[in-house]
Amino acid sequence: MKPTSKQKTALKYLTDSQTSYIGYGGGAGGGKTYLGCFWLMQLAFYAPGTKYFIGRDSLKDTRESVLQTFRKLAKQLDFKEWKYNDNQIIYNNGSLIEFLDLSFYPQKDPNYDRFGSKEYTCGWIEEAAPVHFKAFDILKTRVGRWLNEEFKIKSKILCTFNPSKTWVDYTFYRPFEQGTEATDTRFIPALYTDNPFLPDDYVRNLLSISDETTKQRLLFGNFNYDDDPAKLCEYDAIIDMFTNDHAKPGQRYISADLAMQGRDKFIAGFWDGFICTIEIDMAKSTGKEIETLLNEMKMRNGVGNSNIVADSDGLGAYLESYIKNIKTFHGGASPRNKKEYDHLKDECGFLLAEKINKREIKIICTEAQKEKIIQEVSSCLKRDNTYNDIQKKKLISKDLMKKTINRSPDYLDMLLMRMYFEVKGNNFAG
Ligand SMILES: Nc1ncnc2c1ncn2[C@@H]1O[C@H](COP(=O)(O)OP(=O)(O)OP(=O)(O)O)[C@@H](O)[C@H]1O
Ligand SMILES: [Mg+2]
Repeated sequence: MKPTSKQKTALKYLTDSQTSYIGYGGGAGGGKTYLGCFWLMQLAFYAPGTKYFIGRDSLKDTRESVLQTFRKLAKQLDFKEWKYNDNQIIYNNGSLIEFLDLSFYPQKDPNYDRFGSKEYTCGWIEEAAPVHFKAFDILKTRVGRWLNEEFKIKSKILCTFNPSKTWVDYTFYRPFEQGTEATDTRFIPALYTDNPFLPDDYVRNLLSISDETTKQRLLFGNFNYDDDPAKLCEYDAIIDMFTNDHAKPGQRYISADLAMQGRDKFIAGFWDGFICTIEIDMAKSTGKEIETLLNEMKMRNGVGNSNIVADSDGLGAYLESYIKNIKTFHGGASPRNKKEYDHLKDECGFLLAEKINKREIKIICTEAQKEKIIQEVSSCLKRDNTYNDIQKKKLISKDLMKKTINRSPDYLDMLLMRMYFEVKGNNFAG
């Protein structure tokens, strides 16, 4: 195994006596995970009894992705003197590499006190962009504490990441771009083109990305990808929706984006106040199926009929005859605030964005759903700036949304419909 030239540059900073914080990455496939494994594998080998962490915002993800690369590398280097368990990699020479769950728990552990007494030689934050800044901040104080002096190892943290408007941007990328890097901080940009070892399939998949933003980020390592002034939600706020454990429970609602035919999906969320759990997510279904599933969902969660909203889409009318008092959402209906908004959908969309930005909404869903929701909210929840009547706020058209993400923004529609009850109050009949 030979490091790529970008990995070599990073390794130079990872072994010098000056640099404390090393950022590496920029695009997919630039050799981030390999670099982290290579660095720690050797350091732990040459300095018996030393201690490291590999942290990520999910323990399971850390273990799976890192171990896969670690194994591959160990095989290439014919290094066999290690084993692992759920929590760590253990060397025969007494060195340890711990897997750390860097998830942010705002209620349980808002200051990452759980790391307060840990002591490490060095550490690595893998896929650092979604990790909370506080995790990085606290871990800075936990390295340099385990045999560093004995082995003359400078305490360091490696952060690997793809472009993102989070602390990795202002800590590593921005100072690098502007030539204002502090002496102890270095960023090394690395793209897939910097890695000659990438499997052909990986490159093919990367080149076939059609979403422009994703392409800009992952293919070109573009950190300025999303400076669209039309967007309504800050990127950080969108990400926070999945960890806003402080979001308020309250009245129970269901909002559902129906799909009987076409390419759309049938998606329904159960809302306890502003905490949304996605309970139905399926390909198109028959009217009968939709009715049965919605009814089961309503019974299960104790939601009143008049607290259910579904889009009109032809099907809403059908449902109305089975689920009495259900609200059908007509996006084109007039808004409550006619002076400010064009249509009801626009009013709901802007209100949703406000609530997201204020960190009032929490979404409970799978990782795959999360990824789609982030994409839909960041790429589709945008203001239509071409609209002539600048007095009134309007969202970009559904057509443009579909064109942008190559599918219908069904999750966004579901979230947006919940705002119906906020805009209209649930006594509204229209
Ligand atoms: N120096 C190297 N020698 C041999 N193979 C390498 C080297 N660097 C990276 N690779 C291989 O290239 C592929 C991509 O590398 P790696 O997984 O480290 O990239 P990454 O930036 O972490 O990618 P992703 O963005 O998908 O997380 C892997 O198959 C890895 O094993
Ligand atoms: Mg990786």
